[in-house]
Amino acid sequence: MFITFEGIDGSGKSTQARLLAQALRDAGRAVVLTREPGGSPGAEEIRRLVLEGDPDRWSAETELLLFTAARRDHLERTIAPALAAGQIVICDRFADSTRMYQGLTRGDLRATVDRLHDMMIGRDPDLTFLIDIDPAVGLARARARNGHEERFEDFGLPMQERMRAGFLDLAREFAPRFRVIDGSRPPEAVAAEISAIARAVA
Ligand code: ADP
Ligand code: TYD
Repeated sequence: MFITFEGIDGSGKSTQARLLAQALRDAGRAVVLTREPGGSPGAEEIRRLVLEGDPDRWSAETELLLFTAARRDHLERTIAPALAAGQIVICDRFADSTRMYQGLTRGDLRATVDRLHDMMIGRDPDLTFLIDIDPAVGLARARARNGHEERFEDFGLPMQERMRAGFLDLAREFAPRFRVIDGSRPPEAVAAEISAIARAVA
């Protein structure tokens, strides 16, 4: 079982991925909790290249290659071995984030994103939770964190609005594996809904 969390910055993905991992472990399941970009030593090195520094550091195409290289390493070293061992893999962001960020917001690269995905990754999750939230709320939460991985966090509100709409379009495009979750509620309420859905299928 391969489960991913998607949504705009600050929607609560990391919080919910952690709470779901805990709930499934409490139920006796073996869980690997991981994230992208990153999730393996090589991919964590690439994470620094793509998330830190000048927003214009990479062209849209180079950035897409870097995210895909990181994902390929993560898949080879972390995700595929865990799935093969019968563990549940929970990943904070995966290929849907590339379909959105590189496919939509960094140029019109969606067709290229899809071709690279087919060629180099070739695997989508069994279940994807899209945490849906008002972009103003997400932006405020993300800014309050005040970290140094800010290359993507200066998009501003209009872009976050486009991203939210884009994610909801993706949920329709890949309807069988997507569940759209209202992320505006308290974390425990969101977690209860997610864990009920996951435990019904995992
Ligand atoms: P993401 O991984 O989607 O960027 P996080 O889980 O890191 O989001 O959450 C962003 C911030 O918002 C964190 O400071 C977190 O504690 C807080 N947060 C997460 N979920 C909620 C929620 N349901 N209500 C209020 N604050 C939340
Ligand atoms: P993340 O650490 O999940 O940030 P947040 O907690 O704010 O959601 O991801 C960092 C950034 O990387 C995020 O702004 C989205 C971007 N990203 C891409 O552009 N493409 C990708 O393929 C992935 C996985 C992330």
